Amino acid sequence: MKTLLITGGAGFIGSHVVRRFVNKYPEYKIVNLDVLTYAGNLENLRDIDSRSNYEFVKADINDSAVITNLFEKYQFDGVLHLAAESHVDRSIADPMAFIMTNIVGTVNLLNAARKIWKAGSEGHRFYHISTDEVYGSLGESGLFLETTSYDPHSPYSASKASSDHLVRAYHDTYKLPIVITNCSNNYGPNQFPEKLIPLAIHNISQNKPIPIYGKGENIRDWLYVEDHAAAIDLVFHLGKDGETYNIGGHNEWTNISLIKQLCLTMDKKLGREPGTSEKLITYVKDRAGHDLRYAIDSSKIQQELGWAPSLQFEEGIEKTVDWYLANTEWLENVASGAYEKYYEKQYVSR
Ligand code: NAD
Ligand code: TYD
Repeated sequence: MKTLLITGGAGFIGSHVVRRFVNKYPEYKIVNLDVLTYAGNLENLRDIDSRSNYEFVKADINDSAVITNLFEKYQFDGVLHLAAESHVDRSIADPMAFIMTNIVGTVNLLNAARKIWKAGSEGHRFYHISTDEVYGSLGESGLFLETTSYDPHSPYSASKASSDHLVRAYHDTYKLPIVITNCSNNYGPNQFPEKLIPLAIHNISQNKPIPIYGKGENIRDWLYVEDHAAAIDLVFHLGKDGETYNIGGHNEWTNISLIKQLCLTMDKKLGREPGTSEKLITYVKDRAGHDLRYAIDSSKIQQELGWAPSLQFEEGIEKTVDWYLANTEWLENVASGAYEKYYEKQYVSR
Protein backbone atom coordinates (compact mmCIF):
# COMPACT_ATOMS: atom_id res chain seq x y z
CA MET A 1 0.00 0.00 0.00
CA LYS A 2 1.45 3.33 -1.08
CA THR A 3 0.05 6.73 -0.19
CA LEU A 4 0.56 9.25 -2.97
CA LEU A 5 0.01 13.00 -2.85
CA ILE A 6 -1.20 14.61 -6.08
CA THR A 7 -1.26 18.41 -5.88
CA GLY A 8 -3.53 20.44 -8.17
CA GLY A 9 -5.71 17.39 -8.80
CA ALA A 10 -8.87 19.47 -9.26
CA GLY A 11 -7.35 21.32 -12.22
CA PHE A 12 -7.19 20.36 -15.87
CA ILE A 13 -4.23 17.95 -16.12
CA GLY A 14 -4.31 17.02 -12.42
CA SER A 15 -7.87 15.68 -12.67
CA HIS A 16 -6.88 13.36 -15.52
CA VAL A 17 -3.86 12.16 -13.53
CA VAL A 18 -5.94 11.59 -10.36
CA ARG A 19 -8.58 9.64 -12.31
CA ARG A 20 -5.94 7.48 -14.00
CA PHE A 21 -4.17 6.65 -10.72
CA VAL A 22 -7.38 6.01 -8.74
CA ASN A 23 -8.72 3.66 -11.45
CA LYS A 24 -5.47 1.91 -12.35
CA TYR A 25 -3.92 1.51 -8.91
CA PRO A 26 -6.56 0.40 -6.39
CA GLU A 27 -3.70 -0.61 -4.09
CA TYR A 28 -2.58 3.04 -3.81
CA LYS A 29 -4.25 5.63 -1.64
CA ILE A 30 -4.49 8.84 -3.67
CA VAL A 31 -4.68 12.11 -1.75
CA ASN A 32 -5.63 15.05 -3.96
CA LEU A 33 -4.52 18.35 -2.40
CA ASP A 34 -5.94 21.46 -4.00
CA VAL A 35 -6.88 24.93 -2.72
CA LEU A 36 -9.55 25.27 -5.45
CA THR A 37 -8.60 28.52 -7.15
CA TYR A 38 -10.76 29.68 -10.08
CA ALA A 39 -9.06 26.84 -12.06
CA GLY A 40 -9.81 24.05 -9.57
CA ASN A 41 -13.15 22.31 -9.91
CA LEU A 42 -14.20 19.17 -8.02
CA GLU A 43 -16.84 18.53 -10.71
CA ASN A 44 -13.90 17.29 -12.78
CA LEU A 45 -13.65 14.29 -10.43
CA ARG A 46 -17.33 13.53 -9.76
CA ASP A 47 -17.01 10.03 -11.28
CA ILE A 48 -14.30 8.87 -8.86
CA ASP A 49 -14.82 10.96 -5.73
CA SER A 50 -16.50 8.23 -3.69
CA ARG A 51 -13.79 5.62 -4.33
CA SER A 52 -12.29 4.12 -1.19
CA ASN A 53 -8.71 4.75 -2.40
CA TYR A 54 -9.35 8.48 -2.98
CA GLU A 55 -9.35 11.43 -0.61
CA PHE A 56 -9.60 15.16 -1.24
CA VAL A 57 -7.86 17.68 1.01
CA LYS A 58 -8.51 21.40 0.54
CA ALA A 59 -5.23 23.13 1.36
CA ASP A 60 -2.90 25.80 0.08
CA ILE A 61 0.66 24.79 -0.83
CA ASN A 62 1.71 28.30 0.18
CA ASP A 63 0.92 27.47 3.80
CA SER A 64 4.08 25.71 5.00
CA ALA A 65 2.72 24.74 8.45
CA VAL A 66 -0.36 23.05 6.96
CA ILE A 67 1.76 21.27 4.34
CA THR A 68 4.27 20.01 6.92
CA ASN A 69 1.43 18.70 9.10
CA LEU A 70 -0.18 16.90 6.17
CA PHE A 71 3.10 15.16 5.28
CA GLU A 72 3.49 14.08 8.90
CA LYS A 73 -0.10 12.85 9.09
CA TYR A 74 -0.18 10.89 5.81
CA GLN A 75 3.53 9.91 5.50
CA PHE A 76 3.30 10.19 1.71
CA ASP A 77 5.45 7.73 -0.22
CA GLY A 78 5.40 9.82 -3.36
CA VAL A 79 4.38 13.25 -4.61
CA LEU A 80 3.11 14.24 -8.05
CA HIS A 81 3.20 18.03 -8.01
CA LEU A 82 0.89 19.72 -10.50
CA ALA A 83 -0.58 22.60 -8.44
CA ALA A 84 0.32 25.87 -10.09
CA GLU A 85 -0.89 29.14 -11.43
CA SER A 86 -0.84 28.16 -15.10
CA HIS A 87 -2.07 30.94 -17.40
CA VAL A 88 0.50 33.18 -19.10
CA ASP A 89 -1.87 36.15 -19.57
CA ARG A 90 -2.79 36.14 -15.88
CA SER A 91 0.93 36.06 -15.01
CA ILE A 92 1.44 39.20 -17.09
CA ALA A 93 -1.42 40.95 -15.26
CA ASP A 94 -0.51 39.70 -11.75
CA PRO A 95 2.89 38.00 -11.38
CA MET A 96 2.90 37.72 -7.58
CA ALA A 97 0.41 34.85 -7.35
CA PHE A 98 2.75 32.92 -9.69
CA ILE A 99 5.80 33.67 -7.58
CA MET A 100 4.00 32.49 -4.46
CA THR A 101 2.37 29.28 -5.65
CA ASN A 102 4.83 28.15 -8.32
CA ILE A 103 8.03 28.97 -6.44
CA VAL A 104 7.30 29.30 -2.69
CA GLY A 105 4.57 26.63 -2.78
CA THR A 106 6.94 24.19 -4.51
CA VAL A 107 9.65 24.86 -1.91
CA ASN A 108 7.13 24.23 0.90
CA LEU A 109 6.42 20.80 -0.61
CA LEU A 110 10.14 20.06 -1.07
CA ASN A 111 10.84 20.99 2.55
CA ALA A 112 8.01 18.83 3.85
CA ALA A 113 9.14 15.84 1.77
CA ARG A 114 12.73 16.33 2.89
CA LYS A 115 11.63 16.36 6.50
CA ILE A 116 9.82 13.00 6.41
CA TRP A 117 12.05 11.19 3.87
CA LYS A 118 15.41 10.60 5.46
CA ALA A 119 18.34 11.18 3.05
CA GLY A 120 19.10 8.04 1.06
CA SER A 121 15.86 6.27 2.10
CA GLU A 122 14.32 4.05 -0.58
CA GLY A 123 10.94 4.01 -2.28
CA HIS A 124 10.20 7.71 -2.39
CA ARG A 125 9.81 10.07 -5.31
CA PHE A 126 9.06 13.77 -5.71
CA TYR A 127 7.78 14.26 -9.25
CA HIS A 128 7.62 17.86 -10.44
CA ILE A 129 5.39 18.45 -13.47
CA SER A 130 6.66 21.35 -15.55
CA THR A 131 6.33 22.99 -18.93
CA ASP A 132 8.32 23.40 -22.15
CA GLU A 133 7.89 27.18 -21.76
CA VAL A 134 10.96 27.24 -19.46
CA TYR A 135 13.13 26.80 -22.58
CA GLY A 136 11.92 30.06 -24.09
CA SER A 137 11.16 30.47 -27.76
CA LEU A 138 12.42 28.60 -30.84
CA GLY A 139 12.99 30.13 -34.24
CA GLU A 140 11.64 28.44 -37.35
CA SER A 141 13.70 25.29 -36.83
CA GLY A 142 15.02 23.15 -33.95
CA LEU A 143 13.39 21.34 -31.06
CA PHE A 144 13.65 21.62 -27.26
CA LEU A 145 15.89 18.91 -25.79
CA GLU A 146 16.31 18.09 -22.09
CA THR A 147 19.71 19.83 -22.39
CA THR A 148 18.36 23.06 -23.92
CA SER A 149 19.27 26.08 -21.77
CA TYR A 150 16.49 27.73 -19.84
CA ASP A 151 15.38 31.10 -21.25
CA PRO A 152 11.89 31.90 -19.90
CA HIS A 153 10.14 35.10 -21.01
CA SER A 154 6.85 35.36 -19.11
CA PRO A 155 6.36 35.60 -15.34
CA TYR A 156 4.62 32.20 -15.64
CA SER A 157 7.51 30.47 -17.41
CA ALA A 158 10.08 32.23 -15.21
CA SER A 159 8.29 30.99 -12.09
CA LYS A 160 8.16 27.43 -13.46
CA ALA A 161 11.85 27.63 -14.44
CA SER A 162 12.67 28.76 -10.94
CA SER A 163 10.74 25.85 -9.42
CA ASP A 164 12.52 23.38 -11.74
CA HIS A 165 15.90 24.72 -10.57
CA LEU A 166 14.87 24.42 -6.93
CA VAL A 167 13.67 20.83 -7.39
CA ARG A 168 17.06 19.93 -8.97
CA ALA A 169 18.88 21.81 -6.21
CA TYR A 170 17.09 19.70 -3.55
CA HIS A 171 18.20 16.58 -5.41
CA ASP A 172 21.82 17.67 -5.68
CA THR A 173 22.08 19.22 -2.21
CA TYR A 174 19.86 17.03 -0.03
CA LYS A 175 19.66 13.85 -2.18
CA LEU A 176 15.89 14.27 -2.41
CA PRO A 177 14.70 11.66 -4.95
CA ILE A 178 13.19 13.75 -7.74
CA VAL A 179 12.16 13.54 -11.36
CA ILE A 180 10.97 16.37 -13.65
CA THR A 181 9.04 16.44 -16.91
CA ASN A 182 8.60 19.39 -19.24
CA CYS A 183 5.56 19.03 -21.43
CA SER A 184 4.18 20.94 -24.41
CA ASN A 185 0.67 22.49 -24.64
CA ASN A 186 -2.11 20.15 -23.52
CA TYR A 187 -5.69 20.10 -24.77
CA GLY A 188 -8.76 18.00 -23.98
CA PRO A 189 -11.75 17.79 -21.62
CA ASN A 190 -11.93 19.93 -18.45
CA GLN A 191 -9.53 22.67 -19.55
CA PHE A 192 -10.48 26.08 -18.22
CA PRO A 193 -11.79 28.30 -21.06
CA GLU A 194 -9.08 30.94 -20.65
CA LYS A 195 -6.71 28.74 -22.70
CA LEU A 196 -6.86 28.94 -26.50
CA ILE A 197 -8.76 25.77 -27.47
CA PRO A 198 -11.60 25.73 -24.86
CA LEU A 199 -11.91 29.53 -25.14
CA ALA A 200 -12.39 29.20 -28.90
CA ILE A 201 -14.88 26.32 -28.51
CA HIS A 202 -16.86 28.37 -25.99
CA ASN A 203 -16.90 31.48 -28.17
CA ILE A 204 -17.74 29.61 -31.38
CA SER A 205 -20.67 27.87 -29.70
CA GLN A 206 -21.95 31.29 -28.55
CA ASN A 207 -21.22 33.04 -31.87
CA LYS A 208 -18.75 35.34 -30.15
CA PRO A 209 -15.45 36.62 -31.67
CA ILE A 210 -12.46 34.24 -31.44
CA PRO A 211 -9.54 36.45 -30.27
CA ILE A 212 -6.26 35.64 -32.06
CA TYR A 213 -3.18 37.40 -30.75
CA GLY A 214 -1.02 39.23 -33.31
CA LYS A 215 -1.08 37.53 -36.71
CA GLY A 216 -1.82 34.05 -35.38
CA GLU A 217 1.59 32.85 -36.57
CA ASN A 218 2.86 31.60 -33.21
CA ILE A 219 3.39 27.85 -33.10
CA ARG A 220 2.57 25.42 -30.32
CA ASP A 221 3.07 21.63 -30.10
CA TRP A 222 -0.25 20.16 -28.92
CA LEU A 223 -0.69 16.96 -26.89
CA TYR A 224 -3.95 15.31 -25.82
CA VAL A 225 -4.18 15.50 -22.01
CA GLU A 226 -4.66 11.75 -21.51
CA ASP A 227 -1.42 11.11 -23.39
CA HIS A 228 0.28 13.45 -20.91
CA ALA A 229 -1.32 11.56 -18.00
CA ALA A 230 -0.03 8.27 -19.47
CA ALA A 231 3.48 9.75 -19.71
CA ILE A 232 3.25 10.96 -16.10
CA ASP A 233 2.27 7.44 -14.99
CA LEU A 234 5.30 5.96 -16.80
CA VAL A 235 7.77 8.54 -15.52
CA PHE A 236 6.50 8.26 -11.95
CA HIS A 237 7.00 4.49 -11.96
CA LEU A 238 9.96 3.99 -14.31
CA GLY A 239 11.77 7.32 -14.69
CA LYS A 240 15.36 7.46 -13.42
CA ASP A 241 16.13 9.39 -10.25
CA GLY A 242 17.27 12.96 -10.86
CA GLU A 243 16.37 12.87 -14.57
CA THR A 244 14.36 15.20 -16.77
CA TYR A 245 12.11 13.99 -19.60
CA ASN A 246 10.53 16.16 -22.30
CA ILE A 247 7.01 15.23 -23.35
CA GLY A 248 5.43 16.47 -26.57
CA GLY A 249 3.08 15.59 -29.37
CA HIS A 250 5.26 16.13 -32.49
CA ASN A 251 2.20 18.11 -33.46
CA GLU A 252 3.02 21.69 -34.36
CA TRP A 253 0.32 24.10 -35.45
CA THR A 254 0.26 27.83 -36.00
CA ASN A 255 -2.54 29.28 -33.88
CA ILE A 256 -4.43 30.42 -36.95
CA SER A 257 -4.32 27.04 -38.74
CA LEU A 258 -5.34 25.27 -35.52
CA ILE A 259 -8.30 27.62 -35.06
CA LYS A 260 -9.37 27.16 -38.69
CA GLN A 261 -9.31 23.38 -38.21
CA LEU A 262 -11.30 23.78 -34.99
CA CYS A 263 -13.83 26.02 -36.77
CA LEU A 264 -14.42 23.34 -39.42
CA THR A 265 -14.94 20.69 -36.72
CA MET A 266 -17.36 22.99 -34.88
CA ASP A 267 -19.29 23.74 -38.12
CA LYS A 268 -19.70 20.00 -38.66
CA LYS A 269 -20.77 19.29 -35.07
CA LEU A 270 -23.15 22.26 -34.85
CA GLY A 271 -24.67 21.61 -38.29
CA ARG A 272 -23.40 24.94 -39.61
CA GLU A 273 -22.42 25.64 -43.22
CA PRO A 274 -18.60 25.04 -43.57
CA GLY A 275 -16.86 28.42 -43.18
CA THR A 276 -19.48 29.91 -40.82
CA SER A 277 -17.44 29.73 -37.58
CA GLU A 278 -14.25 30.97 -39.28
CA LYS A 279 -15.94 34.35 -39.75
CA LEU A 280 -15.71 34.79 -35.95
CA ILE A 281 -11.88 34.96 -36.07
CA THR A 282 -10.80 38.39 -34.79
CA TYR A 283 -7.18 39.51 -34.65
CA VAL A 284 -6.40 41.32 -31.39
CA LYS A 285 -3.39 43.02 -29.83
CA ASP A 286 -0.50 40.60 -29.36
CA ARG A 287 0.50 39.17 -25.98
CA ALA A 288 3.51 40.96 -24.45
CA GLY A 289 6.70 38.88 -24.82
CA HIS A 290 4.78 36.33 -26.92
CA ASP A 291 7.02 33.29 -27.59
CA LEU A 292 7.08 32.47 -31.31
CA ARG A 293 7.43 28.70 -31.30
CA TYR A 294 7.53 25.75 -28.91
CA ALA A 295 8.33 22.22 -30.14
CA ILE A 296 9.52 19.24 -28.16
CA ASP A 297 11.97 16.48 -28.98
CA SER A 298 10.50 13.62 -26.96
CA SER A 299 12.90 10.91 -28.14
CA LYS A 300 14.34 10.37 -24.63
CA ILE A 301 11.01 9.33 -23.06
CA GLN A 302 10.08 7.42 -26.23
CA GLN A 303 13.33 5.43 -26.31
CA GLU A 304 13.96 4.97 -22.58
CA LEU A 305 10.39 4.46 -21.31
CA GLY A 306 8.49 3.43 -24.45
CA TRP A 307 6.00 6.31 -24.35
CA ALA A 308 4.34 7.65 -27.51
CA PRO A 309 1.29 9.84 -28.08
CA SER A 310 -1.73 7.65 -28.88
CA LEU A 311 -3.96 10.10 -30.74
CA GLN A 312 -3.72 11.97 -34.02
CA PHE A 313 -4.61 15.64 -33.60
CA GLU A 314 -7.74 15.47 -35.79
CA GLU A 315 -9.09 12.66 -33.59
CA GLY A 316 -8.10 14.47 -30.38
CA ILE A 317 -9.77 17.72 -31.45
CA GLU A 318 -12.94 15.86 -32.38
CA LYS A 319 -13.02 14.09 -28.98
CA THR A 320 -12.40 17.43 -27.27
CA VAL A 321 -15.16 19.26 -29.14
CA ASP A 322 -17.56 16.36 -28.47
CA TRP A 323 -16.78 16.59 -24.76
CA TYR A 324 -17.38 20.36 -24.52
CA LEU A 325 -20.60 20.13 -26.52
CA ALA A 326 -21.85 17.30 -24.28
CA ASN A 327 -20.85 19.23 -21.14
CA THR A 328 -22.25 22.71 -21.78
CA GLU A 329 -23.30 22.95 -18.13
CA TRP A 330 -19.68 22.42 -16.99
CA LEU A 331 -18.53 25.08 -19.46
CA GLU A 332 -21.22 27.59 -18.50
CA ASN A 333 -20.55 27.06 -14.79
CA VAL A 334 -16.83 27.75 -15.04
CA ALA A 335 -17.30 30.54 -17.59
CA SER A 336 -19.60 32.54 -15.32
CA GLY A 337 -18.88 34.67 -12.26
CA ALA A 338 -15.30 35.77 -11.68
CA TYR A 339 -14.18 34.47 -15.07
CA GLU A 340 -16.56 36.84 -16.87
CA LYS A 341 -14.86 39.78 -15.16
CA TYR A 342 -11.40 38.47 -16.11
CA TYR A 343 -12.54 38.01 -19.71
CA GLU A 344 -13.94 41.55 -19.96
CA LYS A 345 -10.70 42.99 -18.57
CA GLN A 346 -8.43 40.84 -20.78
CA TYR A 347 -10.15 41.44 -24.12
CA VAL A 348 -12.09 44.71 -23.86
CA SER A 349 -9.58 47.24 -25.17
CA ARG A 350 -8.49 45.55 -28.38
P1 NAD B 1 -4.77 24.38 -13.99
O1 NAD B 1 -4.61 25.86 -13.84
O2 NAD B 1 -5.90 23.84 -14.78
O3 NAD B 1 -4.86 23.70 -12.54
C1 NAD B 1 -4.03 24.07 -11.48
C2 NAD B 1 -4.62 23.51 -10.21
O4 NAD B 1 -3.76 23.89 -9.11
C3 NAD B 1 -6.01 24.04 -9.86
O5 NAD B 1 -6.87 22.99 -9.48
C4 NAD B 1 -5.78 24.99 -8.70
O6 NAD B 1 -6.87 25.10 -7.80
C5 NAD B 1 -4.55 24.36 -8.03
N1 NAD B 1 -3.78 25.34 -7.27
C6 NAD B 1 -3.36 26.57 -7.69
N2 NAD B 1 -2.72 27.20 -6.69
C7 NAD B 1 -2.71 26.36 -5.62
C8 NAD B 1 -2.20 26.46 -4.30
N3 NAD B 1 -1.57 27.57 -3.89
N4 NAD B 1 -2.36 25.41 -3.47
C9 NAD B 1 -3.01 24.29 -3.88
N5 NAD B 1 -3.54 24.16 -5.12
C10 NAD B 1 -3.39 25.17 -5.98
O7 NAD B 1 -3.36 23.88 -14.56
P2 NAD B 1 -3.05 22.69 -15.58
O8 NAD B 1 -3.14 23.19 -16.96
O9 NAD B 1 -3.79 21.48 -15.17
O10 NAD B 1 -1.48 22.49 -15.27
C11 NAD B 1 -1.07 21.60 -14.23
C12 NAD B 1 0.45 21.60 -14.18
O11 NAD B 1 0.98 21.18 -15.43
C13 NAD B 1 1.05 22.98 -13.89
O12 NAD B 1 2.13 22.81 -13.03
C14 NAD B 1 1.51 23.47 -15.26
O13 NAD B 1 2.61 24.33 -15.14
C15 NAD B 1 1.89 22.16 -15.93
N6 NAD B 1 1.77 22.14 -17.40
C16 NAD B 1 0.61 22.55 -18.02
C17 NAD B 1 0.51 22.50 -19.41
C18 NAD B 1 -0.76 22.89 -20.12
O14 NAD B 1 -0.78 22.93 -21.36
N7 NAD B 1 -1.86 23.16 -19.43
C19 NAD B 1 1.60 22.03 -20.16
C20 NAD B 1 2.76 21.63 -19.50
C21 NAD B 1 2.84 21.68 -18.11
P1 TYD C 1 -2.48 29.41 -24.29
O1 TYD C 1 -3.60 28.43 -24.46
O2 TYD C 1 -2.67 30.57 -23.36
O3 TYD C 1 -1.18 28.58 -23.93
P2 TYD C 1 0.39 29.07 -23.83
O4 TYD C 1 0.43 30.54 -23.84
O5 TYD C 1 0.76 28.51 -22.49
O6 TYD C 1 1.08 28.44 -24.98
O7 TYD C 1 -2.14 30.02 -25.71
C1 TYD C 1 -1.79 29.18 -26.82
C2 TYD C 1 -1.44 30.10 -27.97
O8 TYD C 1 -2.63 30.80 -28.38
C3 TYD C 1 -0.44 31.17 -27.61
O9 TYD C 1 0.42 31.40 -28.74
C4 TYD C 1 -1.28 32.40 -27.35
C5 TYD C 1 -2.45 32.21 -28.29
N1 TYD C 1 -3.75 32.78 -27.83
C6 TYD C 1 -4.51 33.58 -28.68
O10 TYD C 1 -4.11 33.84 -29.85
N2 TYD C 1 -5.69 34.07 -28.22
C7 TYD C 1 -6.15 33.83 -26.97
O11 TYD C 1 -7.23 34.35 -26.60
C8 TYD C 1 -5.37 33.00 -26.10
C9 TYD C 1 -5.82 32.70 -24.70
C10 TYD C 1 -4.18 32.48 -26.58
